Amino acid sequence: MSSCKVSWIVFFLWLFIGLSLPYHCFAIEAGANPAAQLFVDASTGSSRPIPDTLFGIFFEEINHAGAGGLWAELVSNRGFEAGGPNVPSNINPWAIIGNETSLIVSTDRSSCFDRNKVALRMEVLCDSQDTNICPSEGVGIYNPGFWGMNIEQGKSYKVVFYVRSTDAINIDVSLTGSNGLQLLASANIVAPASDVSDWTRMEVLLEAKGTNHNSRLQLTTTQKGVIWFDQVSAMPMDTYKGHGFRNELFQMLADIKPRFIRFPGGCFVEGEWLRNAFRWKETIGPWEERPGHFGDVWMYWTDDGFGHFEFLQLAEDLNALPVWVFNNGIGHQDQVDTASVLPFVQEALDGIEFARGDPSSKWGSVRAEMGHPEPFNLKYVAVGNEDCGKKNYRGNYLKFYDAIKRTYPDIQIISNCDGSSRLLDHPADFYDFHVYTSASNLFSMAHQFDRTSRIGPKAFVSEYAVTGKDAGTGSLYAALAEAAFLIGLEKNSDIVQMASYAPLFVHANDRRWNPDAIVFNSSHAYGTPSYWVQRFFAESSGATLLNSTLKTNSSKSLIASAITWQSEDSETYLRIKFVNLGNSSVYLSIIVNGLDSNSKLIGSTKTVLTSTNLMDENSFMQPGKVAPNQTDLLIGALNKINVVVQPFSLTSFDLLKESVKLRMKEADTSSKSSI
Ligand code: AHR
Repeated sequence: MSSCKVSWIVFFLWLFIGLSLPYHCFAIEAGANPAAQLFVDASTGSSRPIPDTLFGIFFEEINHAGAGGLWAELVSNRGFEAGGPNVPSNINPWAIIGNETSLIVSTDRSSCFDRNKVALRMEVLCDSQDTNICPSEGVGIYNPGFWGMNIEQGKSYKVVFYVRSTDAINIDVSLTGSNGLQLLASANIVAPASDVSDWTRMEVLLEAKGTNHNSRLQLTTTQKGVIWFDQVSAMPMDTYKGHGFRNELFQMLADIKPRFIRFPGGCFVEGEWLRNAFRWKETIGPWEERPGHFGDVWMYWTDDGFGHFEFLQLAEDLNALPVWVFNNGIGHQDQVDTASVLPFVQEALDGIEFARGDPSSKWGSVRAEMGHPEPFNLKYVAVGNEDCGKKNYRGNYLKFYDAIKRTYPDIQIISNCDGSSRLLDHPADFYDFHVYTSASNLFSMAHQFDRTSRIGPKAFVSEYAVTGKDAGTGSLYAALAEAAFLIGLEKNSDIVQMASYAPLFVHANDRRWNPDAIVFNSSHAYGTPSYWVQRFFAESSGATLLNSTLKTNSSKSLIASAITWQSEDSETYLRIKFVNLGNSSVYLSIIVNGLDSNSKLIGSTKTVLTSTNLMDENSFMQPGKVAPNQTDLLIGALNKINVVVQPFSLTSFDLLKESVKLRMKEADTSSKSSI
């Protein structure tokens, strides 16, 4: 009872102070609520630059993030290699149009591509004449892509395939609905036997005359004979800059403004067994020649159209620094002895040369042939992923470290061993830090790096997220705890210089890991609340951290930071970010001291991420259920601002720092107030 009285007194005091200030425009909600004061020191003396690299993204080939996701290729298992090198093999997800009286489909090892020998053999038994007449729609094969292809009216798709036959061919190449009945686009390819007696590349451009998000690609004929197919690709023409990235997914990444991109894994880099690890040399050169591989940690096949080159290209297109994670001779179940790790070291050195070597160098020339003579800006590499505890890690790591530093002294090397609680026993520029935990734990880990040693390597928090029951498949609760953690990283950005959420993408039909930042299917995508949190921090990298102190009795549920950042039109803003993980509104006073006498702060915008329930999630049906809501912040030139912060919310207040002289000049020329 008495504590209730006290909070009402605090409330009326707060109300009185707030209302006595000019230009006060905030609605005040009733109730017994905590109050908090945030003191911000805006003087230059106490501020500190936040590293340009602080917030980036981690792209792993998990959940079909690349194959069937950001990589826009529509055909899955385009070279018929996914069933393994033995023949006959499984051709999944390819399937047959027709029955055993009309055709026999198998695989053999007759491909013209040395690194992927499996080809599809189709013996057509029916014909357009005589007794065994083919059905009018033809017989053949179809590929449904990754749970259906998204074909859109008016858009063009480039279909390429390799074909061989002992006879003349007459093949329909079509895009159809999932049961083959809706014809969306089609082309007929006719060639005499002499033109196709050897493997021949065919290419057609199909323009869709209808839309279907669950389409398939068909290769059919009504003509008897034996036809071999290999390396069948269908690519939309409208990918980002023609670089093969699905446009709207690319844009969702670009909107985070990532300063770096860590790739291609994660466990994907390690492999359950080394023989199934991602090996960059198998993923470069013409797409037709890439063997593809089975990622045995996330348990799916990739044709590796999204290879080492494409990752580097993606980084460049996002204006983000590439951070390449390579295999260090260690998988989940097996590892190479340090005495025999040198070939792996050479592989890493070659991969760096591929990325940034001169076009006259051995691997730089391969990159140049692929259309990128200029070097990529590769400055960061990670030696393995989560391998610190493994027997050979230190030994192997040192071999990589020495060889890379000898050849590329400027390259920053990231160790898998956590140096946040004790100093590393080996040289490194960065140590990797991963955390997947509950919401309350991650909230408290905002202080994880407060007491970390400031000497030695910097921290790279390359994977973090709330997981488990607090997160579901992407809850507001998880996102708010992550925001609190990021506020802590901002404040510790003298030692934590890079951070990225994980995982980035999930195909709704292949949820290997929950939650994720971006959920998509063949045609649609939405951000989880965690994705939206990332957007709140987009301006932090390269900004200035201001000293700020939060006075509150609710430190277990409240946290705040203050930065100044510059917009593209060179305006300077003070941004306060405030997480309220409590179930009551908070009456917050923001007191800004130390502003130089020529400047004033005026209200600009207030952006809030919240929802009705803490466990609310977004979905394809309601993609914007938990999304930021931006409103104007209508306050005048103040150094004290009173605001009400909603329960269960992340709020960012942007205040424009305006020159007083400029404001006086404006007042002279206009009768209207600028506020
Ligand atoms: O982000 C998912 C997985 O979590 C990563 O592959 C691995 O590094 C971590 O264990």
